[in-house]
Amino acid sequence: MKPHHSFFCPKILPVTFILLLSFFGESLAENHENFLKCLSLQSDTISKVIYTQNNSSYSSVLESSIQNLVYLAPTKPKPLFIITPFHVSEIQATVKCSKKYGLQIRVRSGGHDHDALSSVSYVPFIIVDLINFSEVSVDAEEKTAWVQSGATVGQLNYRIAEKSQNLLAFPVGTCPTVGVGGHLSGGGFGPLLRKYGAAADHVVDAHMIDVKGRFLNRESMGEDLFWAIRGGGGASFGIIVSWKINLVAVPSTVTVFAIPRTLEQNATKLLNKWQHIADRVHEDLFISPILFRMNSTMVSIFTSLFLGGIDRLLPLMQESFPELGLTKQDCKEMSFIESVVYLDGFGISESANVDVLLSRNFPKKSFKGKADYLTEPIPEEAFQGIYDIFFEEDEKTIGLLQFFPYGGKISEISEPEIPYPHRAGNIYTLLYFVDWGQDTTNEAFQRHDNMIKKLFNYTTPYVTKNPRSAYINYRDLDIGANSNEGPISVEEASVWGKKYFKNNFYRLVHVKTMVDPDNFFRNEQSIPPFRLVKDEL
Ligand SMILES: Cc1cc2nc3c(=O)[nH]c(=O)nc-3n(C[C@H](O)[C@H](O)[C@H](O)COP(=O)(O)OP(=O)(O)OC[C@H]3O[C@@H](n4cnc5c(N)ncnc54)[C@H](O)[C@@H]3O)c2cc1C
Ligand SMILES: *[C@@H]1O[C@H](CO)[C@@H](O)[C@H](O)[C@H]1NC(C)=O
Ligand SMILES: *[C@@H]1O[C@H](CO)[C@@H](O)[C@H](O)[C@H]1NC(C)=O
Ligand SMILES: *[C@@H]1O[C@H](CO)[C@@H](O)[C@H](O)[C@H]1NC(C)=O
Ligand SMILES: *[C@@H]1O[C@H](CO)[C@@H](O)[C@H](O)[C@H]1NC(C)=O
Ligand SMILES: *[C@@H]1O[C@H](CO)[C@@H](O)[C@H](O)[C@H]1NC(C)=O
Ligand SMILES: *[C@@H]1O[C@H](CO)[C@@H](O)[C@H](O)[C@H]1NC(C)=O
Repeated sequence: MKPHHSFFCPKILPVTFILLLSFFGESLAENHENFLKCLSLQSDTISKVIYTQNNSSYSSVLESSIQNLVYLAPTKPKPLFIITPFHVSEIQATVKCSKKYGLQIRVRSGGHDHDALSSVSYVPFIIVDLINFSEVSVDAEEKTAWVQSGATVGQLNYRIAEKSQNLLAFPVGTCPTVGVGGHLSGGGFGPLLRKYGAAADHVVDAHMIDVKGRFLNRESMGEDLFWAIRGGGGASFGIIVSWKINLVAVPSTVTVFAIPRTLEQNATKLLNKWQHIADRVHEDLFISPILFRMNSTMVSIFTSLFLGGIDRLLPLMQESFPELGLTKQDCKEMSFIESVVYLDGFGISESANVDVLLSRNFPKKSFKGKADYLTEPIPEEAFQGIYDIFFEEDEKTIGLLQFFPYGGKISEISEPEIPYPHRAGNIYTLLYFVDWGQDTTNEAFQRHDNMIKKLFNYTTPYVTKNPRSAYINYRDLDIGANSNEGPISVEEASVWGKKYFKNNFYRLVHVKTMVDPDNFFRNEQSIPPFRLVKDEL
């Protein structure tokens, strides 16, 4: 009963890239030649890291980090070039030449964007893939680290543990291959969120390339831009190369457990009770149910990390959640880094193999995900409607709901502190996820997308409203999208923007207007700049 945990895009935008290419064939080819010439004039080294569509490695580089197989289908648009820089100067050259020759840039760090905005665009585009910007340097004494965007959160966890004898950590999510670039620029949270908040809450400096190709740090970018890249999504503002982060303390021994309960074992009652205690228990305790269908029943696995030993955990559970019946035998003490491996979905027996955190190669799937926030529990009697939707589906469909408890630090930080706004008042965030193996056809997508849409519709009365909150790192183009061409109005973008950022959306627009008024860095859900009326005409 090992749940898979991961996430995915719905819209087929009208203009296909292929159409564009055949239409403007000749002049585009010339433009691309000029772009490549421009790059080699700007940088001596760049030719070694450009993959054209003719290059035999093009496909493998393209496929390397994209997580959602749906977007690797042959019908999806492909980049004209992929650039995998080693040097900042190569990124600077790429920004300058892309701007000059009108090519859109998609920046990719770990490639986990659910709707693959880092790998797919419907206008002529290139990918800047930061796979080779993946250094992590930890200063255990100062309790800080510099981490490059192309590192994975698994590598980051591993290096911090290694350099600090397991006494320091960083509050990131539970999938080792997620990239630091997307994760930190969108917020980023995992089992340490109740104790320490989101990853972006701990960023203290950053290096980035702006639209003019300038290399900036916190001081030279200024506090507004530095604010925006900590949760507002990096892709709207430039290319963030590396991050300085404050590390957090973890005890030498932590405890994990994962208790499965079926409907026959009172899963519904337990889920209901969980909703009433999860955000109130001690902040060292994180309990996250994962609910899915198993044959003719539903199972909820109550998965937990406790920042301390079993002896301190058992009385806390006895006091707040005795119904779960947790015993000493259900619990396992380990080091924090082993708990990372365990919570990443590896079994107890594999948790000591911390080297898996360094791997970038995990099986990929087609998937779709969504997220909600709840300020009130779902009524106990309403769970049946959720189960009914699972039972309508094919038994092989792997759909799941993950309940992520709030309270503690994540709820204490004020809403405008960084762009990630979902704070006090939330009791949990609910993640919807369905995956279906290797099938990249539209038919398979429709079928599974339909299930998740039904769940999302069903929960409407129980989740936040006006707006219905969403999380940019659980990218979902269903909640609204910009046109990828032409001007974008702030008003239209506010439909999805306020779901992700609440009122921080308007400050993000303000920052965007200052740093990228011509909207060079854009995608289906990038922050638009304010425009003067004359530009709209
Ligand atoms: C299997 C799976 C598990 C996940 N688990 C969690 C979890 O536990 N907690 C959680 O909070 N989230 C989780 N996520 C979501 C994850 O945090 C986001 O998808 C995140 O944005 C991924 O970062 P990336 O670098 O891998 O993605 P990418 O696809 O490379 O980038 C995501 C977005 O950020 C932009 N971007 C990337 N790098 C840069 C950069 N250097 N500069 C500027 N813009 C950049 C991209 O252009 C794109 O718009 C999960 C996702 C998946 C697929
Ligand atoms: C492919 O591109 C890489 C990086 O630019 C280069 O080193 C390699 O020689 C190219 N291979 C082919 C077959 O063109
Ligand atoms: C790819 O190769 C073809 C044929 O060799 C050539 O005409 C074309 O210009 C090349 N394209 C690029 C982007 O290098
Ligand atoms: C990244 O760097 C490594 C080591 O130099 C190299 O082997 C690899 O080919 C590079 N990856 C890409 C995609 O350029
Ligand atoms: C389910 O809960 C009832 C009381 O609400 C209890 O009597 C019963 O033993 C529980 N079943 C299991 C399997 O724990
Ligand atoms: C579900 O079915 C599979 C095989 O059909 C079986 O191995 C498994 O034990 C069943 N699980 C439950 C919880 O009934
Ligand atoms: C959405 O939910 C409402 C009320 O719960 C229901 O009446 C409606 O049929 C649902 N729509 C879809 C498409 O499932």
